[in-house]
Amino acid sequence: MTSPCIDIHSHFFPKNAPNFAAKFGESSGPWVTLHDHSDGTGMMMLGDKPFRPVHSALWDAQARIKELDANHVETQIICATPVMFAYDAPAEQAAYVASAYNDLALAMCADSSGRLRTLAQVPLQDSALACRELTRAMRAGCVGVQIGNHVGPREMDDEGIVAFLQHCVEENAAVLVHPWDMLGGERLKRWMSAWTVAMPAETQFGIMAMILGGAFDRLPAELRICFAHGGGGFPYLLGRLENAWHRRDIVRGISLHPPSHYLNRFSVDSAVFDPRALRLLVDTMGADHIMVGSDAPFPLGEEHIGDLVRNQPGLTEVHRQQVLTENARNFFRL
Ligand code: CO
Repeated sequence: MTSPCIDIHSHFFPKNAPNFAAKFGESSGPWVTLHDHSDGTGMMMLGDKPFRPVHSALWDAQARIKELDANHVETQIICATPVMFAYDAPAEQAAYVASAYNDLALAMCADSSGRLRTLAQVPLQDSALACRELTRAMRAGCVGVQIGNHVGPREMDDEGIVAFLQHCVEENAAVLVHPWDMLGGERLKRWMSAWTVAMPAETQFGIMAMILGGAFDRLPAELRICFAHGGGGFPYLLGRLENAWHRRDIVRGISLHPPSHYLNRFSVDSAVFDPRALRLLVDTMGADHIMVGSDAPFPLGEEHIGDLVRNQPGLTEVHRQQVLTENARNFFRL
């Protein structure tokens, strides 16, 4: 029998999204829209440019549930596609956008017989507005919040972002950090390098900022925070950072301890697509800090959700069950 899993990293986009371009104008965009081809496929558009080919599981709860059944996914947590964040728009507009998307995500979950749960999005560029929307969204039924790993030049140790994370602790909201707005500029235009090279670097940057910028030192251990895509480059390059931390004072920032001290302060998902990488992740993070994350239903997601973990050689059955379901149940209080 195939073991069921809980998938904590998947995305949605609503079919009936409000027309934010008409409401706020193109100048604070580009806004995301969906061209539905009415044959079960569609194209996400960013402004007037094609962004990503998609299919109906992105917006249709029933189509999504068919995929969950086929993949033995018991529960799936959905969240915004990062291009929906609107962190570059005026904060009041981003707050409006977040609340509209959060309500649409909750509506998709309400149509799923409990199989789908959602993370909120918030206007992270303004922590007071972000805290207010988080409180509203948690009361409305969200199980946590997804944030991007930076807001322009403000990294995860930024005072406003740390204040928001403190509010997440108070609201009992789990946090998923997703890479977005990738570094690299023009050099990323070929080979989907934004996904293959820069996203893992962004995630690595996010974890590093929380450690070296003292965010973990300032925040309580009760904060439940998970980084996408296996923590990006961080677990693989921890030794490099650790060596630098000990040997050059300019690396240390204001962290009280070396980077390896903080490994029990965060979780990662399993979206690494290779058993050798998953083995490193289990060795580095511990099986109690890894949850299944697929990036479904996007073209670069795990094709058979959870199979990397189900088929991982050398993983004890206790650890396999932790990664497949138990960690997610505890982390998101499902
Ligand atoms: Co994702």
